[in-house]
Amino acid sequence: MAQSRKDDHIRLAAAQQAQLTGAPNAFDDVDFIHHALAGMNANDVDISARIGPWTMPSPIYINGMTGGTDTALPINTALAKAAAATGVPMASGSVGLALDDPATAESFTVIREHNPDGIVWANLGAGRTLDHAKAAVELLDADGLQIHVNPIQETVMPEGSRNFSAWLELIEDIVSGLDVPVIVKEVGFGLSAKTVQQLYDIGVRIVDVAGSGGTNFARIENDRTAHPSSVIDAHARFDWLEPMGLTAIDCLLDIAGVRELATQPDLTVVASGGVRNPLDVVRAQALGASAVGLAGVMLRVAMADGAAGVTEVINLFTTRIRQLYALLGAADAHALGSTDVVITGPSAEKARGRNID
Ligand code: FNR
Repeated sequence: MAQSRKDDHIRLAAAQQAQLTGAPNAFDDVDFIHHALAGMNANDVDISARIGPWTMPSPIYINGMTGGTDTALPINTALAKAAAATGVPMASGSVGLALDDPATAESFTVIREHNPDGIVWANLGAGRTLDHAKAAVELLDADGLQIHVNPIQETVMPEGSRNFSAWLELIEDIVSGLDVPVIVKEVGFGLSAKTVQQLYDIGVRIVDVAGSGGTNFARIENDRTAHPSSVIDAHARFDWLEPMGLTAIDCLLDIAGVRELATQPDLTVVASGGVRNPLDVVRAQALGASAVGLAGVMLRVAMADGAAGVTEVINLFTTRIRQLYALLGAADAHALGSTDVVITGPSAEKARGRNID
């Protein structure tokens, strides 16, 4: 049951990705004002990035997706080989499945097997205990743990949790008891500044806003569970939750608007959700993200072109990101914060709306 759910996720996310490729989203609301003489030499640009204790050669990482099924095995193998070849961090999908059923562990452990020296993060859902977290990290010999908070997805999933009351306390236990850093993320509905503040207050120091506009898990769960009668299906579906949530741009602007968070030296904010191309990466960085995660895009490449394809696409992103820094005259990620950016469209409207008390 849990395995077929994971296979549904892969199949439906890949189908969504085919439609999302080239489609507009909130990243288009972020424009760099073009200054034709601002540029610099691409050879003088440093695009390395830092997330908490980790330094990476390029400001991108492969976000948590899959594991636990036969379909996941070649996908994780391809992603892990590409992560090893390029030095970008990679997260596993939720290892909850392997903790509950150790027979499914191999499709997770390949992530470390093929990337023995790279930065690997295990992934676990909120609601799990410190012991689960330790087991998840041990399984992958992981350098860090991603914990996903996914209340919208759980609500739409027929077999999902309906009780979110213990999540914050359990995350606090894990943060204080685990000896590797914890990254808390959404799964594509965003983390508001208020949520990030709650997480900071219990000791979390790395957050991935994982906003909407890319892979949509409300739609995936709706599509997984279609009712045989199309008339009843229209009522059974949570279609009206599909547009809920914050985009990564909303989240970054929300966080930037809270001084204590935006100026907190020991808080790392990374962004993901709907990232399509190198310009989206640089846009998120200009709004305060230290690095940027890709899930659906990498899934599609892994399924179509395997490890070599993922490696090539990561290298293309890295080259283009360097070119963009040079074009914008930004010598490093820090300098991107001083570029001239205009926010328009729904992202600007929502940011203005939030500022009205
Ligand atoms: C995911 N995502 C995810 N996140 C997580 O924390 N644990 C998980 O197990 C999964 N599983 C998963 C499966 C598949 C097939 C996809 C495509 C995604 C969510 C992912 O990390 C990310 O937050 C969202 O997909 C939004 O980013 P993209 O896809 O728009 O880049």
